[in-house]
Amino acid sequence: MSKELIRLRDCVMSYGDELVLDHINLYINDKEFLTLLGPSGCGKTTTLRMIGGFLSPTSGDVLFDGVRINHVPPHQRAVNTVFQRYALFPHLNVFENVAFGLRIPKAEPSGRKVKLPEREIQERVMEMLSIVNLKGFEKRPVSALSGGQQQRVAIARALVNRPRVLLLDEPLGALDMRLRKDMQNELKRIQQEMEITFIYVTHDQEEALAMSDTVVVMDGGRIQQIGTPEDIYNEPKNAFVADFIGESNIIDGIMRADGVVEIFNRKFQCLDKGFAKDEPVDVVIRPEDVDIVDEAAGQLKGTVTSVTFKGVHYDTIVDFYGFKWLIQTTDFCPVDSRIGIKIDPDGIHVMKKSEYSGMFGDYSSYSEEYEELDVVEDESQEGEGDDPWEDGYEE
Ligand SMILES: Nc1ncnc2c1ncn2[C@@H]1O[C@H](COP(=O)(O)OP(=O)(O)O)[C@@H](O)[C@H]1O
Ligand SMILES: [Mg+2]
Repeated sequence: MSKELIRLRDCVMSYGDELVLDHINLYINDKEFLTLLGPSGCGKTTTLRMIGGFLSPTSGDVLFDGVRINHVPPHQRAVNTVFQRYALFPHLNVFENVAFGLRIPKAEPSGRKVKLPEREIQERVMEMLSIVNLKGFEKRPVSALSGGQQQRVAIARALVNRPRVLLLDEPLGALDMRLRKDMQNELKRIQQEMEITFIYVTHDQEEALAMSDTVVVMDGGRIQQIGTPEDIYNEPKNAFVADFIGESNIIDGIMRADGVVEIFNRKFQCLDKGFAKDEPVDVVIRPEDVDIVDEAAGQLKGTVTSVTFKGVHYDTIVDFYGFKWLIQTTDFCPVDSRIGIKIDPDGIHVMKKSEYSGMFGDYSSYSEEYEELDVVEDESQEGEGDDPWEDGYEE
């Protein structure tokens, strides 16, 4: 395993009364691809700017290779940044945009300023253009490039100085979907080829899962979870993470024993352990982990309220006792049909209650978006006859 390169220790950032980062603790390993993921305003850019040296934390420490660098300016850090707006020089061609940083004389420890020999500049720029697949474009004006090509120039320019760490703040935000996917693969390849650390900011969870070794999920200036993409998806720590990453049904449950959780008065086997007996919990069930069966054979029984064809599967919204779940299935079940469902123990994930409990995970509004197209729902029917608490139905 690679060694630790950067550490944020208890970093707080506040502007007047506004707490923007609330005790951020995080380390980043050498050669890691780490992504800060969260909704707009959660503090991603602020965190990145602290690492880049554009901001110093109000309190806490930024460490690089174990050395405190809180007040070291950006150009003295082994870090470079690619911004969302590429900030290329419009009057320079591709080669000169990439060469720009190399042409600035560097101060030696003695204070003497030295220029890189032209031959070395040539070699290094051409090497970078080859890495970002822009060989043959050196003479082009950057204004004659596509968005994706401009992005490559920005990346080449940031990497030509051989930083140990590249910071990328929503670098693909301006590109269309198709190009984004291509550039995601490109960036990952470049990071691996150059063996440097990438710290990447995005609000796009798919992008984060596809590219990262480690994902840091943030909300409200706080880190909600740090883990591999698989960890974050399969074992979300709370309802916020479960909702933000992928689609999730999040249901109130009660932990009756190790490996037994109760949902809607029914006991389900699960793999989760270590909760107090009868502890209220949040239960995450991913839409793809639900099997549709005959109503009679179902662990839960419900009514289909909407079906949307998605190509690979149907997004099927099912009303269970007034709570709407999203189920992704290749079985077509028409609206108004009664179905049963089964969930394997490993399709159930139990989480502690948190400040986010009850805020996410019901697909009522999701299905209403579809229903709006059909008929306006008749309010008088709501919850009628299918509420287990009302009916006192059997175990
Ligand atoms: N210079 C500033 N003064 C006051 N508030 C700021 C400043 N910079 C950022 N903020 C606030 O900090 C929060 C986090 O911002 P930011 O780090 O840019 O979020 P993100 O990149 O996740 O969208 C936001 O609420 C933003 O309004
Ligand atoms: Mg930002």
